[in-house]
Amino acid sequence: MSVQMIQPKPAPKLRLKGISKEFIAPRTGQRTLAVADFNLDVQPGEFICIVGPSGCGKSTVLNMIAGLEKSTSGSIEMDGKAISAPGAERGVMFQDYALFPWKSVRDNVGFGLRHGTAGAGMAKAEREDRINHFVQLVGLKGAESKYPHQLSGGMRQRVALARLLANGPDVLLMDEPLGALDAQTRLVLQVELLRIWGETGNKDDRKTVIFITHGIDEAVFLADRVVVMSSHPGRVSAVLDVDIPRPRTEEVRLDPRFAELSEEIWSLIRDEAYRAIA
Ligand SMILES: Nc1ncnc2c1ncn2[C@@H]1O[C@H](COP(=O)(O)OP(=O)(O)OP(=O)(O)O)[C@@H](O)[C@H]1O
Ligand SMILES: [Mg+2]
Repeated sequence: MSVQMIQPKPAPKLRLKGISKEFIAPRTGQRTLAVADFNLDVQPGEFICIVGPSGCGKSTVLNMIAGLEKSTSGSIEMDGKAISAPGAERGVMFQDYALFPWKSVRDNVGFGLRHGTAGAGMAKAEREDRINHFVQLVGLKGAESKYPHQLSGGMRQRVALARLLANGPDVLLMDEPLGALDAQTRLVLQVELLRIWGETGNKDDRKTVIFITHGIDEAVFLADRVVVMSSHPGRVSAVLDVDIPRPRTEEVRLDPRFAELSEEIWSLIRDEAYRAIA
């Protein structure tokens, strides 16, 4: 008699089932179907990038996962439980730095730990250690007492990332976090982000990431899978596996597979991208 080993499929970290979102303008009553029948399972520790033409509903999807917007229909589950409101286990980061200008780097990073649920029950020393750890991890050691106006855009996004991580979320929801940076800083921070995410370490230690970007090459460089959306209404038009091994270094950008995948994604959104801009 043979014993058959059935490998259990890991439960998804996030499950988006038939999500739709209709906005109704309060004065005119005008309806916009921003997202329709959006389905996606995200595995624990997976890095997902979402790309698509401007206005296709990327931010709306992210905001629904964050619990900042309610879906009109469908369900969103995290670890098998329905999500309907924001929660500390889902951290959000946006394009605009959203730092407190009157607080130092250190106080910005520690804000959630000192004032939010993330640091509740933590001894002061533990909290301070944690702040130090994340300040160091994002490469801001030595800049702890600076204020946001004294930092470059790239450094400000490092602060925002350290604050996000210090709060200990399971899932990172990032809406064009590198979108406001110059091209060179952006390339450097892509590599840094993968290091901080733990690409070089144990797969089980990695956070689950949903990362929105307009940069097709950024998506291919970062993601395990790229979700391509089409618009009016926003739907998943394709999901591509990025079969480029990790850890990924700058050389990946010269890999023929990198160019192939980028071209494939661009061909999927090109027509709509032109129309969205025209
Ligand atoms: N609060 C709102 N009220 C009404 N319509 C909205 C609202 N938020 C978004 N929309 C509409 O929903 C659609 C999707 O918008 P969303 O911001 O999600 O797109 P996006 O893909 O993130 O765009 P971009 O790439 O420009 O950031 C757009 O048509 C937008 O005008
Ligand atoms: Mg957006």
